[in-house]
Amino acid sequence: MEQQKRYGHFDDQHREYVITDPQTPWPWINYLGNEDFFSLISNTAGGYSFYKDAKFRRITRYRYNNVPMDNGGRYFYVKDGETVWNPGWKPCKTPLDFYECRHGMSYTRITGRKNEVEASVLFFVPLKKWAEVQKLTLTNQSKETKQLKLFSFEEWCLWNAATDMENFQRNFSTGEVEIEGSTIYHKTEYRERRNHYAFYHVNAPIQGFDTDRETFVGLYNEFANPDAVMEGKPRNSHAHGWSPIASHYIEATLAPGESKDFVFLLGYIENEQDKKFSAPQVINKEKAHALIAELDTTEKVDKAFAELNEYWDALLNIYNVRTGNDKLDRMVNIWNQYQCMVTFNFSRSASFFESGVGRGMGFRDSNQDLVGFVHQIPPRARQRIIDIASTQFPDGGCYHQYQPLTKRGNNDIGGGFNDDPCWLIFGTVAYIKETGDFSILDEMVPFDNQPGSEVTLFEHLKISMDHVIKNLGPHMLPLIGRADWNDCLNLNCFSWDPNESFQTTENVSEGTKAESLMIAGLFVVTGKDYVALCKQIGKNDEAERMQQAVDAMVEAVKKHGWDGEWYLRAYDFYGRKIGSNECEEAKIFIESQGWCTMAEIGAEEGMVAKSLDSCKKYLECEHGMVLNNPAFTKYIYEYGEISSYPEGYKENAGIFCHNNPWVIIGECIAGRGNDAWSHYAKILPSYVEEKYQTLHKVEPYVNCQMVAGKDAFRPGEGKNSWLTGTAAWMWYTVSEFILGIKPDYDGIRIDPCLPETATDYTVSRKFREADYEITIHPNGSQKGVKQITLDGQPIQGTVIPYSAGKHIVEVTM
Ligand code: BGC
Repeated sequence: MEQQKRYGHFDDQHREYVITDPQTPWPWINYLGNEDFFSLISNTAGGYSFYKDAKFRRITRYRYNNVPMDNGGRYFYVKDGETVWNPGWKPCKTPLDFYECRHGMSYTRITGRKNEVEASVLFFVPLKKWAEVQKLTLTNQSKETKQLKLFSFEEWCLWNAATDMENFQRNFSTGEVEIEGSTIYHKTEYRERRNHYAFYHVNAPIQGFDTDRETFVGLYNEFANPDAVMEGKPRNSHAHGWSPIASHYIEATLAPGESKDFVFLLGYIENEQDKKFSAPQVINKEKAHALIAELDTTEKVDKAFAELNEYWDALLNIYNVRTGNDKLDRMVNIWNQYQCMVTFNFSRSASFFESGVGRGMGFRDSNQDLVGFVHQIPPRARQRIIDIASTQFPDGGCYHQYQPLTKRGNNDIGGGFNDDPCWLIFGTVAYIKETGDFSILDEMVPFDNQPGSEVTLFEHLKISMDHVIKNLGPHMLPLIGRADWNDCLNLNCFSWDPNESFQTTENVSEGTKAESLMIAGLFVVTGKDYVALCKQIGKNDEAERMQQAVDAMVEAVKKHGWDGEWYLRAYDFYGRKIGSNECEEAKIFIESQGWCTMAEIGAEEGMVAKSLDSCKKYLECEHGMVLNNPAFTKYIYEYGEISSYPEGYKENAGIFCHNNPWVIIGECIAGRGNDAWSHYAKILPSYVEEKYQTLHKVEPYVNCQMVAGKDAFRPGEGKNSWLTGTAAWMWYTVSEFILGIKPDYDGIRIDPCLPETATDYTVSRKFREADYEITIHPNGSQKGVKQITLDGQPIQGTVIPYSAGKHIVEVTM
């Protein structure tokens, strides 16, 4: 094993990851903003901002997959004599005397030092504000007076990020700006249908500016050597068409030891139709002035930053564990929860692997994300459930994705993914268990957002279950439709045309026998949840009806879904087995092992234990469990996209981190704590961070969607970081199944599953109006609670009955 270079380390006390070398193996990014205004920011200040929707309201421009990598961002150029440098090293790449990037909870601080001048920039989006603050502190650490020239830089995106990249015949003529004092306004298309504009402001007088990119940079230069900066002279250019930018020019004289703050503000404003203009063609800037006034001093900015930190203190105080294992504690208490918030906000729309134009909010994705987030801000989870359910069709099917700005289903992708409906139950049940708020079931929710079509949310859940029951195949197993969780298992697609997308091309559904064991397991798990929910609300007949369907599904799986050593994965269009020992390749798949073991199908007959053993035997490798084994080595027309990937990557035998937790939960339910832990630690970022920073490539503080599997060219290499259901599943697994603190309708159920080596640990858990301090004494046991005391009194069973206030709980295993 080659010695792995390290690029940074955790700073748990500050809840930060500290990057000490700007040349990370891939840009290591962070997210700013919590609700409406968002930014992506890399460790060299690359990235972009948008309002609500990365496609329709892109504020600044970014170039994906460019040369050099990570091109475009908020750049500060410091010209000190003949030396030009950036605090984040890029784009000039002038070697720095010191560099550090601290990614924290919704903020990033980048500090660079060169020739005894330090520039430190704090980036964050204040709570409830539509703006990114960039507080730049310049310090002269030398013994001489420094006369510095400072240039800021942002490049505007012409709002729609997709057409911004393609419709140049129009775009090069539409760009418009206004300049007023130290503020540069971007108002492309404001003259017509847009009621929004953006601005870039600094709270100091400026000695010049630029708004036209070619004038500032020079047509044949790069961001690394813009003409204006190199010469130390702004051009005061006024953009008309082409590519509008915003650059302030400031001359700063700093005495020895002196420090100066400059607050830059990138803001977004929406105006009412009748208040768009203050004079013909002049934007009404009232709201911009007001926003600027709220953030135009260091004191105001520091206060807003303190509020942001308090917000995160509160969020991360809801669930906090002390196990004595730093690597576990930092993931549970900080980074896993943080990533859950980010995936809740973005689904799979905007990362450094998701361009922000392709995908909106996924139906299944968002329901899963919610499970990782619901304990943090339940009212937002509630709204999300309603939004998601509103994209459902009357037959229980649903749009696979919707756009966050419009909340309308995405017609390009359409529907037909037959696992989708079940996830609505998964999300809703998690919400009710966390909050005790059954009233959500009575909310009136439309179909496909059509006014007048409203039925209760409960009705949506019912038709979701029914959608599965009404779409069973010849073995009485669920028909797969376009695909199930595995978007790439396209059993009804049959494509030889490289110009068509596996995901959107017309599927053959007539005569199909393609059934999914993954949906079967998912149906049993969510069906049991649904039955329990019905009983809670007194719908006993409905509970009985669904129990029968669940029982029937269990029987169908036992009869037609078991291969001898593991569960089958599916049946293809013609009714042939997939994921069977009889198959030439891909004999075993992870998804059905995960879901059928979670559902405990055939536990008495030994199926669960055998399936879990098979995962260890055939799927596990050094970096986690692969999706299928052996990998496909050739394209199979009947299977679709899954077999299109080279061996070991993505859905073809990659380690899809998302589904490792399914098996881990299966292990926990089966009481096999040692195995659960060893699978979990393999994909826990803090363990990977210690060993594999170079190999892993992507951010070591969050999970990525996929790590190259054992059959890949470079096993262990990570891809698609940040936006993955892995975040929520890792959270669900560790918080509820390993550490064993499970919200339930009537209280908190305690049911840990631990490695034998686990020592005593304490979880502080806020739950509704209660505060629990729960200490678990494992006593070398992997599973099984012997005794619980609540405030000193022994209780019956394993559910701590809910009551408001502070409580001390002791658990003996
Ligand atoms: C998608 C998920 C899907 C998974 C497996 C992800 O990229 O967002 O919806 O389940 O891939 O195909």
